[in-house]
Amino acid sequence: MPLNVQPLPNSSFGCLVNFSGADDAQAAVSAAEAERNALPEALFASHGLLLMKSMNGINAEPSLLARLSRLFGPEVENYHQALTTSNYVHIEVPEIFIVSNIPPADRAPPARPDPPLTEDGKLPVQFPHRRGWHTDQSYRRPPPDISLFYAAIAAPKNQAQTLYADGIAAYEALPPALKKRVDDLIGIHVKPGAGRAEYAVRAGDEPLPLQAHELPQHQPVVRVHPVTGQRALYLCEAGQMDWIDGPFVGMAPGPDGDGAALLYEIMSHLTQREFVYAHEWDQGDLVIYDNRTLLHAATWFDTDNHERLMWRTTVRGNPGPEYFGERKSWIPATEPNV
Ligand SMILES: [Fe+2]
Repeated sequence: MPLNVQPLPNSSFGCLVNFSGADDAQAAVSAAEAERNALPEALFASHGLLLMKSMNGINAEPSLLARLSRLFGPEVENYHQALTTSNYVHIEVPEIFIVSNIPPADRAPPARPDPPLTEDGKLPVQFPHRRGWHTDQSYRRPPPDISLFYAAIAAPKNQAQTLYADGIAAYEALPPALKKRVDDLIGIHVKPGAGRAEYAVRAGDEPLPLQAHELPQHQPVVRVHPVTGQRALYLCEAGQMDWIDGPFVGMAPGPDGDGAALLYEIMSHLTQREFVYAHEWDQGDLVIYDNRTLLHAATWFDTDNHERLMWRTTVRGNPGPEYFGERKSWIPATEPNV
């Protein structure tokens, strides 16, 4: 079955894909396995964003999501081996990480931006009005390549969107002087909740003691994609950068240092509306995104009145030559580093 590839509506990047004649999730996954390179090639040709609609059959057969994930790289992360609390791991398929406000996952969405809409009445996307921009698990080396994000239960429209920012287009559009400054820059990323976030440092919180496998990790601010060779901005903000020693190696640290000023400059450039796609979820939507080229951010939804259940997998194994041969930073030295 051939893969149909169309531009993603309302976006300057990404593609809407489906296999001809595959009218349910089982058929789509079988077609993708028969044409193993079709989806990855479409992903890499579209700056790293694919949307598959009507994959609702994954609800009844969640292993389909793990099967599809295996087409995108050598390792689909098993969350039982990744020090993840068990209430966030799917009970039957340990490759699925649960993002939901439904117990036992109980994860609250981010707060609404202040003000909740832009002056022209739109959903705020640009940093720092919009906060929470990140790339998955950038506090680990090597970081994951690709995530698959599936809506098992979607909240209503006009809330609970996921925002994606095109790091390739944003890099290409950098003013030459800024491009020169970021080309060899190294960011210091840390797991949220370690007391090293911008807001924690500003509040004077005591940072948590971290064990060796939890330490902040260095990542290039410009990633070179190992398949396409394209260069993309790779950066997080408030909660996933280290605002004590960073955000950047070799620059004045802390929320009021030169590094912070540069981060604000890069991040507000990268999240301009022209580089951002806001996905409004339908139940059964599957979004596949390349963490090496895109940032993303969650938005608020009304948890008092709506339930939302999202399943995510992460695929690793091709981070690029600068990571080759490294042990996994997040696995304690006393455990096998597989
Ligand atoms: Fe994420």
